[in-house]
Amino acid sequence: MPIAVRACTPDDFVRLAAAFGAGRLAHHRARYDLQERGEGWYLLAGDRAEVLGRVTLSFQSKYSGVRTAFGDFPEMNGLEADPPGHGTGTAIIRAAEDAAAARGATTIGLAVGVDNAGAQRLYRRLGYADWGPGRVCDEWTEPDAGGTVTAIHRDPCDYLIKELAPRAATRSVLCAYAPNESACLHTERRRRS
Ligand SMILES: CC(C)(COP(=O)(O)OP(=O)(O)OC[C@H]1O[C@@H](n2cnc3c(N)ncnc32)[C@H](O)[C@@H]1OP(=O)(O)O)[C@@H](O)C(=O)NCCC(=O)NCCS
Repeated sequence: MPIAVRACTPDDFVRLAAAFGAGRLAHHRARYDLQERGEGWYLLAGDRAEVLGRVTLSFQSKYSGVRTAFGDFPEMNGLEADPPGHGTGTAIIRAAEDAAAARGATTIGLAVGVDNAGAQRLYRRLGYADWGPGRVCDEWTEPDAGGTVTAIHRDPCDYLIKELAPRAATRSVLCAYAPNESACLHTERRRRS
């Protein structure tokens, strides 16, 4: 069964808001707001009834060292897939690459925890390699159910990049907001379980 990946629509956001407590909702809202400001895409995998995974594709790196070195270029943040090991992560990464390339980007980047062996293996198999200048620090906050920040995490990360082949803007990217269309950025064969 194909795994569809699409940009979060207003209807999706209403469903996410209904499904999550205030803490998690703030996480989704920040990503949806970034998309609404035209600063990136909030990509969701799965069909309308079930969100299997997500990533933010920002049009500018959140890491100042990367911005200084490369200027504006697209970056994936917050990739998640649940359940894991069914090809959802791969489908989301490929969709993000397609969406970035369709905007004219020639490189895409991401930060991955130095001890996140599974994600490191997946990225490197998909063609990502260390960017060279060294590690970055991913700072993120942990809210409680009411949305109050209870902890600030600072994780050392490797920064990986991948060259993207140039390609023309595709209808699938352009129709991402058309709720009555297929609205798919990408589909990937789902792993047999
Ligand atoms: C990292 C993460 C996003 C990967 O997503 P995923 O959906 O599990 O990824 P995939 O299923 O595409 O690939 C994972 C494994 O399944 C295998 N696989 C994927 N699709 C397959 C298919 N169609 N047929 C056979 N195997 C497949 C891959 O080879 C890979 O194997 P590996 O463990 O040896 O590397 C997910 O595990 C996750 O959410 N982890 C927690 C959060 C996290 O660490 N995020 C990364 C932040 S940088």
